Amino acid sequence: MSVVIVGSGNVDLVSQVERIPSPGETVLSTGFATHAGGKGNNQATAAARAGATTTFVGAFGDDDNGARLRASLTDSGVRPLVRTSTEPTGTAMITVATSGENAIVVNAGANATLTDLTPAERSAIAGADLVLMQLEIPLDTVIAAAKIASGRVVLNAAPARSLPEELLAAVDLLVVNEHEAAFLGGSDHLLTVVPALVVTLGAKGALVRTSSTTTEVPGITVDVVDTTGAGDTFCGALVAALDERRQLDDAVRFATVASALSVRRAGAVPAIPTREEIDDFHPDD
Ligand code: RIB
Repeated sequence: MSVVIVGSGNVDLVSQVERIPSPGETVLSTGFATHAGGKGNNQATAAARAGATTTFVGAFGDDDNGARLRASLTDSGVRPLVRTSTEPTGTAMITVATSGENAIVVNAGANATLTDLTPAERSAIAGADLVLMQLEIPLDTVIAAAKIASGRVVLNAAPARSLPEELLAAVDLLVVNEHEAAFLGGSDHLLTVVPALVVTLGAKGALVRTSSTTTEVPGITVDVVDTTGAGDTFCGALVAALDERRQLDDAVRFATVASALSVRRAGAVPAIPTREEIDDFHPDD
């Protein structure tokens, strides 16, 4: 069994602030750090740490940030199928408030050059049991990969953008948060175009829906330090559990634990839990 994640990699430039500044406002940070991040990189890391045999297809720059992301992937057990671009590695400017909430601006850089899938990339995607993607790379690449895939296609529609019918027709499972679901026309509409839908509800858990069933998976209360990458951890752990042939409801329960664990630590990649941490977690910890 195997998972391929096609997506973005960024180095996150993270400022801790008491609260997210309003437009036109300047605030002083209470701390600064850089972390490996990017939705695709985070999801690949989460899938591998949760136990899946994972390949990441992406594009990094020929720079220190690119080397850092490659090393981070390898250290987490991900096979990097990563192009070296003439553009700089993607970066994300992130402010994290004391409440754990964040605001993010992404500079795509090399991620925007992930076009025209190579034979090696196409072969990896075609051979995967599960392909997981997000929307920080060119949409045409997401569409091409979804069409090439012979296994299940999971799309995390983040950040939100309009999705063409030809993409949705190739998606087996769509994962969105409440804002993304509303942006895309609402859950009922989405279930007319995809066979299964997971709506993440932050601390409240998740809804698992098909055209005939709805299951509420409750959230897990933890002390929140930083929510950056929590959705990515959810998606990566979800595909790892699906790759173990768990039923969707059960896989969402597993992903909910992984996601809850991730918000207890700072940063995106540094906060993603290992399989041991997920299996050992008890809600009262
Ligand atoms: O989802 C969190 C991620 O979004 C961050 O790691 C940042 O790089 C942006 O891609």
